[in-house]
Amino acid sequence: MTANMDAVRAQIAEEVKVDLSSLLEPDDNMKGFQEVSRSFISDTITAPTPDMYAYAAKASIGDAVYHEPTTLAFEAHMAKITGKEDALFLPSGTMSNQIALRTHLKQPPYAVLCDHRSHIVRYEAGGTAFHSGAHSQMVVPSNGHHLTVADIEENIVLGTDLHRHVALFAYDEIIRISEYAHSVGVKMHLDGARIWHVAAETGISVKDLCAPFDSVSLCLSKGLGAPIGSCLVGTKEFVAKARWFRKLFGGGMRQTGFMTAAAAYALTHNFPRLPAVHALTRKLEAGLREIGIDILGPVETCMVFFDPSPVGVTYAEIIERARALPEPIKLGGSRLVVHIQTSPKAVEDLLSVIRQLAEEKKAAGFVKPETPLTNGRSHKNMLFLY
Ligand SMILES: Cc1ncc(COP(=O)(O)O)c(C=O)c1O
Repeated sequence: MTANMDAVRAQIAEEVKVDLSSLLEPDDNMKGFQEVSRSFISDTITAPTPDMYAYAAKASIGDAVYHEPTTLAFEAHMAKITGKEDALFLPSGTMSNQIALRTHLKQPPYAVLCDHRSHIVRYEAGGTAFHSGAHSQMVVPSNGHHLTVADIEENIVLGTDLHRHVALFAYDEIIRISEYAHSVGVKMHLDGARIWHVAAETGISVKDLCAPFDSVSLCLSKGLGAPIGSCLVGTKEFVAKARWFRKLFGGGMRQTGFMTAAAAYALTHNFPRLPAVHALTRKLEAGLREIGIDILGPVETCMVFFDPSPVGVTYAEIIERARALPEPIKLGGSRLVVHIQTSPKAVEDLLSVIRQLAEEKKAAGFVKPETPLTNGRSHKNMLFLY
């Protein structure tokens, strides 16, 4: 009987085991880094480096639902640099935003007022309605760039809560909105997924950028290059309740020490690299302009939105030609994202591809139209492929 059970267990163990490391050839990850360095799809593709992993391996091994020392130290650091009372580590920016809204919104009926382009309304799977039962009131900025206090006053239905998503926002205007919102008892949440870029570009500290908001979600796995995680910051009372919602949402994680250590490595080593990323982005923008490409909006940090139609070229042609290079380049349409692992050579190669296509079109007789094809268009209605 025992011998039989041993054989059964051995059989189950045989079925359960798996070796994933043999899937990889020794230099597959090197190839992966090479691909990342030539991809303009998003900054979420930035990959953890051996140095980052070596640092992460020094993390503590506690259970974060009970007590995880590295994670607690990381959260304390995040609270400190954002000037808030407390912080909560979460698996994703989406969960962080959704938990923030769920935590702020106390008793229906209520609504969330936000920029019509915000991640919360466009890319979070309708989570605001699903998780919080809240109406999302989307506002189109009257100046085409960022919401102003006049936009808010015009659209607010008092008793609503307020959410704002930004790339690089007009800081003075945010302060005005915050003063107005707080004077009428409305809470402010910032989806600060890329707040690091704003701090690096404007020289305004992360703490000052966060000050107008009651809560802020900061992503670690995008421009900063950590593999996982976002952090939600706010008052002690807010974070205590958000911690409870994290459990309810199924986001209570266990041995998160290595994740927060990787994020700490990113804050220390990758944040200082963002000015170089922005400089490379401006180089890309300048190169595109020189070819005659339309730039669809101000290039402020790490993204360029472009339209190649003034030189007779389509997105599909660029994507195809870039993919066919001996060292392929990936892009997804009108949005180009530059990140800490983008190689300057990839920028040059992409510009060469587009320049060559433009020259071919010219040689084939394409003449730039008198009225720009892009008239009245913006990146909002351009092609996005992911
Ligand atoms: C502005 C913004 N907010 C939130 C998120 C959501 O982050 P996650 O993909 O970690 O859920 C993203 C994702 O790219 C984003 O760009």
